[in-house]
Amino acid sequence: MIFGDANQLRIRDAELSDAAPVLAMLNELDHETRFMMLEPGERGLDVARFAGWLAELRMRGDCYLVAVQGTQVVGFAQAERGTYRRSRHCAMVVLGLLPSARGQGLGTRLLARIDDWARLSAVTRLELTVMAHNLPAISLYAKRGYAAEGVRRHSLIVDGRPVDELVMAKILPGSAPD
Ligand SMILES: CC(C)(COP(=O)(O)OP(=O)(O)OC[C@H]1O[C@@H](n2cnc3c(N)ncnc32)[C@H](O)[C@@H]1OP(=O)(O)O)[C@@H](O)C(=O)NCCC(=O)NCCS
Repeated sequence: MIFGDANQLRIRDAELSDAAPVLAMLNELDHETRFMMLEPGERGLDVARFAGWLAELRMRGDCYLVAVQGTQVVGFAQAERGTYRRSRHCAMVVLGLLPSARGQGLGTRLLARIDDWARLSAVTRLELTVMAHNLPAISLYAKRGYAAEGVRRHSLIVDGRPVDELVMAKILPGSAPD
């Protein structure tokens, strides 16, 4: 008998039933790395609230992907569009992977899936911020076509110290404005 590879890394759209494992993964990331926005414990553990946020995101047609290994959620990528007509073509991207899932091309695959979603959603600008010393992430974004647009000086305080962020963005082919 042939079994599928239960440990294979897969990427799929998040379901509402993923809310608890995704929130647990995000909390784990907040503890493990200083490169995400939230401090350890700041995100909270309110699964119902997180599920409600996820439901609204899905209703708006925005994107939330999970990377899954076996039954464990090991990473995510999200893209949220602007809420006004003049900014609907623009989406803010965030992603993160647990350490066990890094260095295997998963970040690359997640960003490729975000590109696919953008093309189907008439999104022509993907943007993000990244701490200026997060070299692995900056390298990944550059490889996926994101260009640095500027520096937000001292935009964050991490462990009591000011940290700069890079603004990076990628323009996808789309209809030109009038
Ligand atoms: C940044 C992150 C998403 C990268 O994901 P990943 O799956 O490990 O990246 P990939 O395996 O797809 O690698 C793609 C490219 O990213 C860069 N990269 C990834 N890990 C790297 C590392 N440890 N050092 C330097 N460059 C690295 C390389 O350019 C790599 O290309 P290569 O394989 O040809 O060298 C992951 O390290 C992560 O989740 N880090 C913690 C959270 C975080 O920083 N999130 C981003 C916040 S803005």
